[in-house]
Formats: sequence, C-alpha cells, structure tokens
Amino acid sequence: MRILGIESSCDETAAAVVEDGRKVLSSVVFSQIKLHQPYGGVVPEIASRSHVEKIGGVIREAVEAAFGGLHWEAIDAVAATYGPGLASSLMVGFSAAKGLATSLGKPLIGINHIEAHLHAVFLSPEAPEPADACPMLGLAVSGGHTSFIEVPEPGKFRLIGQTLDDAAGEAFDKAAKLLGLGYPGGPVIDKLAKTAKRRDAIVFPKGRPRPGTPALGGFRADLCVSFSGLKTALMYHLRRNPPKGDEDVAEIAASYQEAIVGALADRCARALASGRYATLAVGGGVSLNGRLRERLAEVADRAHVRLLLAKPCYCGDNAAMIAGLAGLGVGVKEPDVMAQDVVPSLEAGD
Ligand code: KG4
Ligand code: ZN
Repeated sequence: MRILGIESSCDETAAAVVEDGRKVLSSVVFSQIKLHQPYGGVVPEIASRSHVEKIGGVIREAVEAAFGGLHWEAIDAVAATYGPGLASSLMVGFSAAKGLATSLGKPLIGINHIEAHLHAVFLSPEAPEPADACPMLGLAVSGGHTSFIEVPEPGKFRLIGQTLDDAAGEAFDKAAKLLGLGYPGGPVIDKLAKTAKRRDAIVFPKGRPRPGTPALGGFRADLCVSFSGLKTALMYHLRRNPPKGDEDVAEIAASYQEAIVGALADRCARALASGRYATLAVGGGVSLNGRLRERLAEVADRAHVRLLLAKPCYCGDNAAMIAGLAGLGVGVKEPDVMAQDVVPSLEAGD
C-alpha cells in the first residue's frame, strides 16, 4: 500500500509517499518560516496564499522522488490532514487531496494532525512495530498543541490531558519575542540555554493548573499544563530586572525552558505512574528540544518504559506522518470523507 500524504495545517506545505505505514519513499516540506518571520508569528492570510502557490509543485516533487517520475498510477490512496490547524490553511491541502483522489479514482483518507505527530516515531526502521509499542503514552508538543494521549492499541487514541491555554511551542515563541530573539523561538532558546551557567537563576511558575479549575473540563489537573502565567511572569521579570548582558539573557532563557520542560516531564511521569504503558512516544516541533529529550529519557528510565522520539526531520510538520498513519488504516474514509469539512479545533481521539 503506497499512500500519498498531504499536509498544510499551518505554515508548512508538505507531501510525501509512504509504503505500508512506515517506509518513507519521499518527503518534501516547504517551510514558510521566512514569510512569517517579519511578523513574529504565523499570519493566516499569508499562510493560505503561500499554500495555494506551492502545493502543486510540492505534490509533484514528492511523487517524482518516490517513483522516479510522475507515476500517479503507482499511488494506492491519497491522505490529507483535515484538522486541527488554521481553517484557511487546512482547506488548501484537503481540497487538493479531494481533487487529486477524484481525478485519479483512488480512495481519500482524512487524517488527524495530532495523532499523526505521534505516528512520526514509527517512521524509522529501528522503531518497533506499533503493535509492540502499545499500550503507549503519547505526548504531542508543538506550536499549536500540547496533548497527552493514551494509545491502547495502534490507531486508537484517547486524550487524557492537555494545555489549558498556550501550547508549549507558543510559550517558547512568546518568550523569544519578549527577549528580542526572533521567530520561531524554540530553537533559539534551546541553543541559548545550553550556554547558560545556571538554569535555576529565576524561579518561574511550574505550569500547574489548580485542581477544580473549570477550564480543566473533566481532565485530571495533574495531567494538564498551563503556560500563560509563565509568559506573564517573564514579562514582569524583564520589566523589573532588565537583562544586563548576554549571560543574563541565557540564564533567563534556561530558567524559562526549565519551567516548560519540567511541566511536560512531570505530567508524563504522573501518567506513567499508572503502570499501564509500555512506551512513551513524543512528537511535534518542541520534541526537538535538547533539554526535553534529556528529561524525558530520565522519566522513561525511571518508569521502565521505552522512549520513542521521532527522527528530527519528522518532528516538525511533515506529510510522511500523515501518509504513514493512513497506512495503518486510521482516518476518515469513504463514503464520508468527500463530505468531510476541515475541523480547525479537532482533538486527538475525536
Ligand atoms: O510541529 P511544528 O513544526 O508546527 C506546529 O504544528 O506547530 O512546531 C513548531 C514549534 C514552534 O513553536 C517552535 O518554536 C517549536 O516547535 N520548536 C522548538 C524547538 N524547535 C522547534 N521548541 C523548543 N525547542 C526546540 N529545539
Ligand atoms: Zn504540528
């Protein structure tokens, strides 16, 4: 089964061909970062216009790279992200997929982007089979989401915790903006933090939601995070103590990163304490963070579970994870999928 995947939920236009859910035959990603950088964040209007310009070329490139030519007949199905994400961005990729599937006479599959981030850990020959990794605890962390997800068996997802406000990547990006470090903030803070002498110079809030807060919406407080207070704390800290030099900025970045990473690691440890899971799988752009990888390795070790991280090229948004998850038999299929609209607020397990 060779599936062409298409991804356009935010600011990456991507297409890929994956065989049997795991073997990546091609993966093409066009990143719009340069277009959004002057604005310090993703501008939806610019994103959707750029997707429209690029999507045709990106799809052709992925098919050519997979089959050594434009052999459309070699594709068995077309899969595309239908949520969550920016509505105007999602619509470009999902509509392209509908058109392509119709013209090729191939099945279409609608994929949940967050669930696909977790499948990214299986896109490497060294990873175990999904069935052997389950039951799994998944952490999807990116600029748009921070979700703790239970995967009892391949293709089954249940959201067990999440952020009540900002996503972890968003918290990194907002801090970088306040510190004047540019966009996206995660990679810069990650790098800068490594140069800091101390990572406990400033005590930031731990991102723990208050039990009983209505915003929890039925989720356990100790499996949720809240990062909006962290950003406010940074703002006040900078007002009261303007950094005196690069070393100060590095220590602030390291302390701030420690608060985010600590919150994520703590919630994973609490979920793993149930003893229900064999594996901790982590995907999304923030899973590139060096300190997060370090802390999660300790957490997994202590809980005696295997830690699976996506390869760096499959951590950020890509289409191989979309085609891969579709290859597992997951997703919205015929006859419902042609009438399926994009769902910007889709959750894992929906
Ligand atoms: O998965 P992704 O490419 O797109 C979304 O679905 O959002 O994630 C992008 C996010 C950005 O917020 C970026 O700052 C963050 O991932 N990020 C990082 C690192 N690299 C990217 N955050 C922390 N440390 C990193 N090394
Ligand atoms: Zn993503």
